[in-house]
Amino acid sequence: MAEDDRSTTTDQGATIEDFLAEERTFPPPKSIVSGALVTDRSLYDEADADFEAFWADRARELTWFEPFESVLEWDLPFARWFADGRLNVSYNCLDRHVEAGLGDRVAYHFEGEPGDSRTITYAELLEEVSRCANALRSLGVERGDRVAIYMPMVPELPVAMLACARIGAAHSVVFGGFSADALRDRIEDAEAKVLITADGGWRRGQPVALKANADAALSNGARSIEHVVVVRRLGDAAPDTSMAEGRDLWWHEIVPSQPVHCPPEAMGAEDLLYLLYTSGTTAKPKGIMHTTGGYLTQVAFTHRYVFDLHPETDVYWCAADIGWVTGHSYIVYGPLANAATSVMYEGTPDHPGRDRWWSIIERYKVTILYCAPTAIRTFMKWGTEHLEAHDLSSLRVLGSVGEPINPEAWVWYWQHVGGERCPVVDTWWQTETGAIMISPLPGLTTLKPGSATFPLPGVAAEVVDDAGTRVERGGGYLTLSRPWPAMLRGIYGDPARYRETYWSRFPGRYFAGDGAKVDQDGYLWLLGRVDDVMNVSGHRVSTTEVESALVDHPTVAEAAVVGATDATTGQAVIAFVTLKAGVEVDEEHGEALRRHVASKIGPIARPRTIIFTEDLPKTRSGKIMRRLLRDVAEGRDLGDTTTLADQSVVEELRTRATSQPAEE
Ligand code: WTA
Repeated sequence: MAEDDRSTTTDQGATIEDFLAEERTFPPPKSIVSGALVTDRSLYDEADADFEAFWADRARELTWFEPFESVLEWDLPFARWFADGRLNVSYNCLDRHVEAGLGDRVAYHFEGEPGDSRTITYAELLEEVSRCANALRSLGVERGDRVAIYMPMVPELPVAMLACARIGAAHSVVFGGFSADALRDRIEDAEAKVLITADGGWRRGQPVALKANADAALSNGARSIEHVVVVRRLGDAAPDTSMAEGRDLWWHEIVPSQPVHCPPEAMGAEDLLYLLYTSGTTAKPKGIMHTTGGYLTQVAFTHRYVFDLHPETDVYWCAADIGWVTGHSYIVYGPLANAATSVMYEGTPDHPGRDRWWSIIERYKVTILYCAPTAIRTFMKWGTEHLEAHDLSSLRVLGSVGEPINPEAWVWYWQHVGGERCPVVDTWWQTETGAIMISPLPGLTTLKPGSATFPLPGVAAEVVDDAGTRVERGGGYLTLSRPWPAMLRGIYGDPARYRETYWSRFPGRYFAGDGAKVDQDGYLWLLGRVDDVMNVSGHRVSTTEVESALVDHPTVAEAAVVGATDATTGQAVIAFVTLKAGVEVDEEHGEALRRHVASKIGPIARPRTIIFTEDLPKTRSGKIMRRLLRDVAEGRDLGDTTTLADQSVVEELRTRATSQPAEE
């Protein structure tokens, strides 16, 4: 690495170091290039010449009931895209494909965790959505209302979302792993009129009740809810599902009997499509607002080009949960807008065996797989024998989302899942951005493992220093310097918080909360949230880079790194490490890993303390909870742990941390 590429000195004199150089490059494979949608820079050139005209052209690929004249009204930080146009999102996802003769195309191959399956065509999905929309209307849901949805990964979930979109009600999907209190808070903030839920779902072979949680949520608040619609998923396996007379209705008793036609509402492009709550720095979750026209434009565009989608032949699988934004944009709205065929899977990757995903890919001949690095690292930990038993040759494009993907996991994914023939697209975006913002294009971009590469056409992503000056090469803060069609329109009910959270740190720029660096070739490397950047002896060291170095060691499966206060160096590097199956921890091992990090990055990044653990504390969406790890590392009280998937992990870690010597 060139010396001048090593650091950027900001106005305040701080140094953001990027120590870890990833040298390998992967040009697009010929097999992809030959049929790819994009093999030259014309889309980028078009967008660079006039980004509003570029997005307007993409928007015109949708069907509008009334075409728009106005492209962008930008009253910083409030954007309105295509505001005088009218359209309906469910019409664009369903009717127009059926009208084009694609009614028999499969929209979803659904597979339940117990092994049950359903194939749903576009024509069937349209019917089911129309019936559900009529049922919602019969319960008094009107255009402009909010509907809360708390469901497992079953087909009725996208049906319910699209039914809301059809009649102009906004949905607020609450991830099925959230607690009753979390559900109540979200219902109250949105003042939802109806709640759609299920008796429960299957997880790791066990029935998990949902209706009981919904009842708990409604028993101490959430007074706005007039009716609860309950999908029967578990049936007799459900632990007593009680139904409140007059309030609760079974889905199968009210939906199938409805008329099969339901005319779609002509919605304004800026009408609310959905709310999705995401955690901020305060205890109160933020209701991120997404609207119809711009959102659908960008999710359709990105889904098509980022995955090089050929909807006639591809079988696409996004293994996220619809309860998160990835599922909203890339299981429901993007794929359906593009008439894609998707796989939808209810359960966990290790039920009944650790090869469940690979067996799904083999059976449905999945061509595009989109998942999170945490899943990939889990599979690395489990070993390659689970993949080797299956034919994965149908795969052609692999995607990653949700956190920085360390080069080792990237290469493992490319090699063992993709058979060294599938480009890996590392896609950076957020609940707030609504759609993918930074990503390679499979037929065009030369990949570097661990880099999300470049902003997509029409997206202006820039790295800036503390003073907000653009950084051409080196590290800093990731910002977006122009509005984009799928951007959040605000925080529900709190415009001041919207302005303060995203637009105040760097005037005129959206600040994403992420650190990033630009390398000598202009590639973007995401470095994690900025509060995950440590300061060791005046040097900023990214937790992500230390984690990558640790995972690069042959014995390490997963690592999470946090900074803890240190009297001498300001902060010290603390690493929580999970070893691969079968590796014994001995006295030398911690020292070997420290040496490894020092050799990969430099002595400054050498962890002071390494805590070996069987599991890391994760949210139910799979994100490592660094806040908790910081608290463990600092010996602090552990605040709120309700979003943890497994509560016992933290106690275990605390015990280990306190039994570790503070210094070597
Ligand atoms: C992180 C998920 C690095 C980032 C779509 C962002 C990533 C946060 C990537 C948003 C990526 C997401 N590389 N980091 N490819 N994708 N992130 O709202 O810190 O659940 O700010 O949206 O995840 O998480 P969210």
